[in-house]
Amino acid sequence: MQKPIDIKPATGKLGILLPGMGAVGTTFIAGCLLARRGLAQPFGSLTQMGTIRLGKRTDAKTPLIKDFVPLAKLDDLVFGGWDLFHDDAYEAARTAEVLTRDHLDQIKDELEAIKPMPAVFFPEFVKRLRGENVKPQTNKMELAEAVREDIRRFKADNGLDRCVAVWCGSTEVYREPTHVHESLAAFEQGLRDSDPAISPSQVYAYACLKEQVGYANGAPHLTNEFPAMVELAKKAGVPVSGKDFKTGQTLMKTILAPGLRARLLGIRGWFSTNILGNRDGEVLDDPDSFKSKEVSKLGVLETILQPHLHKELYGDMYHKVRINYYPPRGDQKEGWDNIDIFGWLGYPMQIKIDFLCRDSILAAPLVLDLALFMDLAQRAKMSGIQEWLSFYFKAPITAPELYPENNLFVQMVKLKNTLRWMMGESPITHLGTEYYD
Ligand SMILES: NC(=O)c1ccc[n+]([C@@H]2O[C@H](COP(=O)([O-])OP(=O)(O)OC[C@H]3O[C@@H](n4cnc5c(N)ncnc54)[C@H](O)[C@@H]3O)[C@@H](O)[C@H]2O)c1
Repeated sequence: MQKPIDIKPATGKLGILLPGMGAVGTTFIAGCLLARRGLAQPFGSLTQMGTIRLGKRTDAKTPLIKDFVPLAKLDDLVFGGWDLFHDDAYEAARTAEVLTRDHLDQIKDELEAIKPMPAVFFPEFVKRLRGENVKPQTNKMELAEAVREDIRRFKADNGLDRCVAVWCGSTEVYREPTHVHESLAAFEQGLRDSDPAISPSQVYAYACLKEQVGYANGAPHLTNEFPAMVELAKKAGVPVSGKDFKTGQTLMKTILAPGLRARLLGIRGWFSTNILGNRDGEVLDDPDSFKSKEVSKLGVLETILQPHLHKELYGDMYHKVRINYYPPRGDQKEGWDNIDIFGWLGYPMQIKIDFLCRDSILAAPLVLDLALFMDLAQRAKMSGIQEWLSFYFKAPITAPELYPENNLFVQMVKLKNTLRWMMGESPITHLGTEYYD
């Protein structure tokens, strides 16, 4: 067994800052408030309900993760954020129509006290929304300074020990990195010049990292994975992770595809389509925002199936993903998958999935886990890209020389082994060595 690494204790209060307080953001906040009053249970959250096996199976040692690693407690969380709309968290949650009024009214006072700070917003990055609650500055460096000031004030006003940020804002349009993203110096010059390639989410991420606030990206756009941001994260000693919460259809895909691949069942085609009617769906109705999502959703099968190793099984697969904005469904998305597979001697078969899910209900526990694990990483002095948190993302960011790991089960092993490593426990490899020692 190696020595545990040095982790600062989770003393004091942890601020969770959300750029974007819409359906996911408010469902997350409301859920934490309900759970800490014992009014509902945080199902879906590994940090609250997950366990971790230590040692051999015969040792029967399986503590809760929250009792094994020093995580911030629900009681010590303070919530804040920015949004384009003035609505406090209660009003925003009512508009989102995810949680029932009965649930929201039990924590109404606490939700009403959470008012969004004015946003950084450039309409060319989210074409379907108009900002009401927006910062007046026009220079991008001045905007970053204003966000830094917001963070310092939020910390001081709430007596916080530390903060972490999780982007829960709308999906921005698809953009490739440019020269401003290549180094920190180029990015800072770009901010001073208000370079058009710098998006609002990048301004928030820069400001957070400068304030030693870890930053997780819940959407698929370009924010914290390019060299300038990773350089800043390393320099500031702050973790980053992303991108795009792995929730509905892609979660199912990364559960099923590893099984088909494990049994060497071939795939001719995988057609995925969705209907959803929330504000996220409205934003994704814009082809440029959808492009960010499409790239993130399409990537997962390639790294799981590895067609370059199995040309005859996956080399000729047709993969298509559609998202259709359909207002009557609100947050209650329906996702269909048709999978054309083949087996022994090439005989065809089909699998159909109809997932009637609730988008924000699936995303909220991920926000909580990411916030708590990012805070843990920072206290453990783990800076830069946190690949062990790939478990939570559709398009995990990795070091440039690596391909992302999308198999949910490999991601879970990696996450739990990282926790074991932090605490000086042996990794579990499933080699069955318990029979031989
Ligand atoms: N719900 C899921 O299952 C899921 C899964 C993966 C990713 N996501 C992503 O999470 C994000 C949030 O989803 P949602 O359903 O809560 O959307 P939403 O539209 O309900 O909320 C997004 C909020 O972000 C705000 N916003 C937009 N630009 C902003 C800016 N520059 N600064 C501050 N606020 C800004 C909007 O005003 C809105 O209130 C989206 O990008 C979505 O694609 C969601």
